[in-house]
Amino acid sequence: NGDKSSDVVWHEAAVSHEARVKLNGHKPAVLWFTGLSGSGKSTVANAVDYMLHQLGAKTYVLDGDNVRHGLNGDLGFSDAGRIENIRRIGEVSKLFVDAGLLVSSAFISPFNADRQMVRDLLAEGEFIEVFIDTPLAVCEQRDPKGLYQKARAGEIKNFTGIDSAYEAPVNPEVHVETADKSVEECAQQVVQYLKQQEYI
Ligand code: PPS
Repeated sequence: NGDKSSDVVWHEAAVSHEARVKLNGHKPAVLWFTGLSGSGKSTVANAVDYMLHQLGAKTYVLDGDNVRHGLNGDLGFSDAGRIENIRRIGEVSKLFVDAGLLVSSAFISPFNADRQMVRDLLAEGEFIEVFIDTPLAVCEQRDPKGLYQKARAGEIKNFTGIDSAYEAPVNPEVHVETADKSVEECAQQVVQYLKQQEYI
């Protein structure tokens, strides 16, 4: 297959993963934020990122703004589009983890199998599933981008929670119930987990 890079050989890294981790002074991992549209994934992920940065950790955020407009600009919201979206983000997250970062990835990632696929890409302890659990009714009431209204009116097809499925995590490392909490409290819960588990 002329398109496949079968002749590419992995180059031995001059700087090892262990050396990067030692320099950074904390364990790397991906914080995988999953939840409905409007659940607060990006907001909480950015608040966590800010707190970790303040604590001196090497961090990065992956979310729709820097991924669906760029790397994944060719993908839509069919099941196949979402699966490929998550596969690529998983691979990018893995590279950031290899670089020694605490990366916060915030995507709906509605299917259990795809989140499991990303977990399987990474080593034990490198995938931390964070369920941003906000009831559909609350997301729909917030409707920050007016998308639920459009979906209900049939102007957007395959909208998560309306006419496309969201499979809630079965056993997430962190379960954040946002409805009665501030952004700060939600982010603290995630940072607390990282401290308890001695990532930072
Ligand atoms: S997925 O399912 O993980 O591939 O989705 P993601 O990359 O996180 O993109 C979700 C954002 O895209 C907007 N949008 C839609 N969401 C769900 N379903 C449909 N059909 C859709 N069309 C556009 C929406 O603004 C989502 O934003 P968030 O940040 O999740 O609220």
